[in-house]
Amino acid sequence: MTTLYEEIKHEVKKRRTFAIISHPDAGKTTLTEKLLLFGGAIRMAGEVKGRKAQKFARSDWMEIEKERGISVTTSAMQFDYGGHRINILDTPGHQDFSEDTYRTLTAADSAVMLIDSAKGVEVQTIKLFKVCSQRGIPIFTFINKMDRYGKEPLDLLEELEQVLGIRSCPMNWPIGMGDEFSGIYDRKHHRIELYRGDSQRVFFYPKKSGLDDPAIRELIGDTLYEKLCEDIDLLDIAGDPFDLEKVQQGQLTPVYFGSAINKFGVQTFLDEFVSLAPAPSPHDSSIGPVDTAMGFSGFVFKIQANMNPAHRDRIAFLRVCSGKFERGMTVNQLRTGKKIKLAQPQQFLAQDRDIVEVAYPGDIIGLHDPGIYRIGDTLCAEGSFEFPPLPQFPPEHFARVSNLNAMKYKQFQKGINQLEEEGTVQVFHTAVHAEEVILGVVGELQFEVFKYRLKGEYGADIRIQYLPYQLARWVKSADPIDTSRLTNLSCLGVFDRDERPVVLCEHEYALNWLERTYPDLVFSVTP
Ligand code: G4P
Repeated sequence: MTTLYEEIKHEVKKRRTFAIISHPDAGKTTLTEKLLLFGGAIRMAGEVKGRKAQKFARSDWMEIEKERGISVTTSAMQFDYGGHRINILDTPGHQDFSEDTYRTLTAADSAVMLIDSAKGVEVQTIKLFKVCSQRGIPIFTFINKMDRYGKEPLDLLEELEQVLGIRSCPMNWPIGMGDEFSGIYDRKHHRIELYRGDSQRVFFYPKKSGLDDPAIRELIGDTLYEKLCEDIDLLDIAGDPFDLEKVQQGQLTPVYFGSAINKFGVQTFLDEFVSLAPAPSPHDSSIGPVDTAMGFSGFVFKIQANMNPAHRDRIAFLRVCSGKFERGMTVNQLRTGKKIKLAQPQQFLAQDRDIVEVAYPGDIIGLHDPGIYRIGDTLCAEGSFEFPPLPQFPPEHFARVSNLNAMKYKQFQKGINQLEEEGTVQVFHTAVHAEEVILGVVGELQFEVFKYRLKGEYGADIRIQYLPYQLARWVKSADPIDTSRLTNLSCLGVFDRDERPVVLCEHEYALNWLERTYPDLVFSVTP
């Protein structure tokens, strides 16, 4: 009979929990759909092509997302593949939702960096890469859209190194691109996967080892053959060799080429990914590393309300870090010291929800949230420890918000509180008008989402008056602070929801002036 310890270790070994990071339009939705298809998680993935024809990828949840065609929310999806249980954390691609994405990355054990072969390393990829590389998680690169003409593959590798500062090791190599795209040469298995423009996987195994078999020349033609031999020679001599330890430490990224829309190279990538990507490992906490086989524990990395109009509710997403989760179990919430019974936990498969009976480290579960959770909360069955706080990002855009319908004041307040707890906005108020609401967001588009959601979910009409401030600093001092003395033409003294003094500044210059004028105060980017 297996013990609980053995059961957990066995389940942990099977788990792969990762996020896909990319710049919008690189093909993340397309790749996610194809991965889900291989896992048999969805019978038919809504073709991304159909988006404009009102067919949407199944991982899209919110109306606004559909309207704009951008991914605003984060969804978690689970499927089985080749004896592994895979959890994909889908992340909003739009730059204005980067804060949400950054937090989600804390729940991933590895990342897949998706790059458009024609665009190379783009702005949003750089930002997300930095967050992953700070955590030291392994990063696997998939270079997409090889069926189109793009940058030279060697130049793309150079870009990874120059722009991101990461060494790379191509695991396969494209044979041509665009109309001439003929397939990929697998450097490990010495085989060619032929591109036929359909979804069949066709391999060619050379009789002689390496590229010496004349049949390869016959297959792909002189020009592509010579180019392939030249490139592979160069990689063999000057490229970085594959080194699993460096991959695990996030110092070397294995690179794969393909075309997500044609499913080409995707399964090959998935096979390699599940064998190389790490299973969940011990998590740092206030009492040191928490082993995966300890009692149940996890942390909340996202809160989201009204994800699906059919279920008007709020869900806290929890990443399981240790132990076995069982439905109905009672856990400690460290922040409040309360005990909570986890009665109706849910797991996600795109839009469908299932009640989850058990879950193991690496899994993401959705907890029904009647307003008790906050982002970063640690829940554990035994003991009292906390996982490190999630990264916070200071807001860079500010606006004054007023309620236009006095009859809806209660809904207005409720909506603001809920959206703040979800981490969508930060709420400030001035000393003079405690009722006046000033919102701070990391990405400007969040104001629009905020307005849309207050109307759609709470029936409250609001007016948004944009403010010129660009920086927020928490003001710290040994003595109580009179924030009115911080207010001038370019600065506004306010309080956050915990009544901590904050100053909003129009520019760095204004902040520098405050720092010089009030040397007794500390101006901090975090609370
Ligand atoms: P995202 O989630 O990263 O924003 O990207 P998404 O999957 O929505 O893909 C963005 C565009 O790139 C889509 O085209 C999609 O069809 C296309 N695409 C994805 N993978 C590939 C690929 O391997 N090759 C080629 N050629 N295109 C790919 P779109 O212009 O938004 O839509 P549509 O005009 O094609 O319908």
